[in-house]
Amino acid sequence: MAISEELATLREQTLARIADASDTAALDEVRVSVVGKSGTLTAYLRNMREVPKEERAQVGKAVNEARNVIEGALDARRKELAAAELEASINAAAVDITLPGRAQQIGTRHLINRMTDEICDIFLGLGYTVASGPEIETDYYNFTALNAPADHPSRSMQDTFYVLDRSGDAAAVRGESDVLLRTQTSGVQVHVMEDQKPPIYIVAPGKVYRRDVADPSHLPQFTQIEGLVVDKGITFGDLKGTLDYFCKHLFGNDRKTRFRAHYFPFTEPSAEVDVSCGICHGEGCRFCKGTGWLEILGCGMVDPNVLEMSGIDPEVYSGFAFGVGVERVACLKYDIPDLRLLLQGDMRFLRQF
Ligand code: DAH
Repeated sequence: MAISEELATLREQTLARIADASDTAALDEVRVSVVGKSGTLTAYLRNMREVPKEERAQVGKAVNEARNVIEGALDARRKELAAAELEASINAAAVDITLPGRAQQIGTRHLINRMTDEICDIFLGLGYTVASGPEIETDYYNFTALNAPADHPSRSMQDTFYVLDRSGDAAAVRGESDVLLRTQTSGVQVHVMEDQKPPIYIVAPGKVYRRDVADPSHLPQFTQIEGLVVDKGITFGDLKGTLDYFCKHLFGNDRKTRFRAHYFPFTEPSAEVDVSCGICHGEGCRFCKGTGWLEILGCGMVDPNVLEMSGIDPEVYSGFAFGVGVERVACLKYDIPDLRLLLQGDMRFLRQF
């Protein structure tokens, strides 16, 4: 076969293979096999010496022509395939903007923190400030300075967890540790009276601990808010007015309060405060166990001994104190039947508030 015919055949076959190439990789194979270093067309140029002299110019021209046509076709087909491949990859990675979005889970403040702030806010509005004290406390601040010395029977109501120091101190190991998880926020009263001169108007929110097994109405850890007022001429009337205002603000203006005589070692006289039941409005129902009243806090006039132990002259100053259980108030306000729900972290429960 004459060289020119061979070249024409090679050219046609190559153009057909180019048109058939289904992707850029296949196209590249065609390119390498024809116009690459050892390609079939390149071989003609390499072997030019073997072509008779008089035909060389003509063959050379035909080879170059074939190469130009083939390279042009390769180029056009590469552009076509590359565009198709790009489109395919864009389609594959496309986002379906009609799908509903994935909403971020938004947390809520825990009911106990919200209640704590709500209670403190009522007193902030009356000009009180917020104080705080340590959760790991000494026996002195938790009991002794609150008029409950070591042998006082009221201590047995508030058993707690004692803390051993790291040295493994022998007395601590025998259970005679002086360091404990506080059972009440009342110790903050003592810290404040030691550090500040009257007039004192504070509320002190915080966690407290008792050696209790969790049940619907007891938790081994809960939250209290302590209140303390020390000033000249403070009377039981101030205490009653303040706590009545507090209860109405928290539960609603239609609620009544009553004070029942009680005992606390650090106040004299002492009282427990009940608020009228919001469900039966005082008629008596299951929620208030038929009494028409719900107990919400303890309070009293600060015992002169307590003032004196903290360096305040009871001849000059008098005061009142109170302690509110935040979980209890939350349960009364939102009809929660079991205190343990507040500690379980179940979002289905907590999101309601
Ligand atoms: N600390 C008391 C308790 O945990 C509550 C209490 C009662 C606090 C009377 C007071 C108070 O400040 O005056 O049971």
